Amino acid sequence: MEPIQHRETALRVIGICGSLRSNSYTRMALHIALRGAQEVGAQIQLIDLCEYHLVFCDGNQDESAYPPDVFRLRADVRQAQGIILGTPEYHNSMSGVLKNALDLMGFAEFEGKMIGLVSVSGGTVGAVDALNSLRNIGRALHAWVVPEQVAVPEAWKAFDTTGQPQHTVLQQRLMEVGRQVARFAYLHTSEQALDFLRAWESAPINPGAEKR
Ligand SMILES: Cc1cc2nc3c(=O)[nH]c(=O)nc-3n(C[C@H](O)[C@H](O)[C@H](O)COP(=O)(O)O)c2cc1C
Repeated sequence: MEPIQHRETALRVIGICGSLRSNSYTRMALHIALRGAQEVGAQIQLIDLCEYHLVFCDGNQDESAYPPDVFRLRADVRQAQGIILGTPEYHNSMSGVLKNALDLMGFAEFEGKMIGLVSVSGGTVGAVDALNSLRNIGRALHAWVVPEQVAVPEAWKAFDTTGQPQHTVLQQRLMEVGRQVARFAYLHTSEQALDFLRAWESAPINPGAEKR
């Protein structure tokens, strides 16, 4: 595969953090996954939802009451070819913060893009249900969710005080999510793949979701 820096415009991979907590382990995990994407040549950005003033998605066609940050979030996500979603485990699922942010977006932000998934939990099981739900959401948004994913159980003991993983295996697994997202996003936006991409994007419209 060609190195991804040979593209005319740099490939962009963003992470969206589903925890608003300061010192969030989700944010730490995302930073490391993004480093993996950067290592293979992507430009990276962490989207911290606590820096966006969002409201609940109300499902109305008229979005004039939405604050400007809803549109800023959409614009930031549209610029990316790869998106890493990070969530804490909340009651065996993703956080409401992340779900609402995803509900405020749609095909325009996600269709045809690569998605990577990371999660953290306080308990020993790991937020696998949250990741399965996110994988399912990726399908609804016509995005491609890469096979590699990382659920970090007992996150409170997985990272040191500087946000680095205690074990290199975890670091490598998180970075591999970022590498896969960047590499597949590159493949997916390269000239050879465009015919396939066009054919796929003309697939039947999802009747349950409106195309923005
Ligand atoms: C509302 C809420 C629900 C939670 N539910 C679970 C749970 O079902 N399983 C679990 O292992 N941990 C649960 N936790 C613990 C979080 O997963 C844990 O604190 C995690 O580190 C939070 O992510 P953050 O560090 O990125 O903020 C819950 C925490 C909160 C605030």
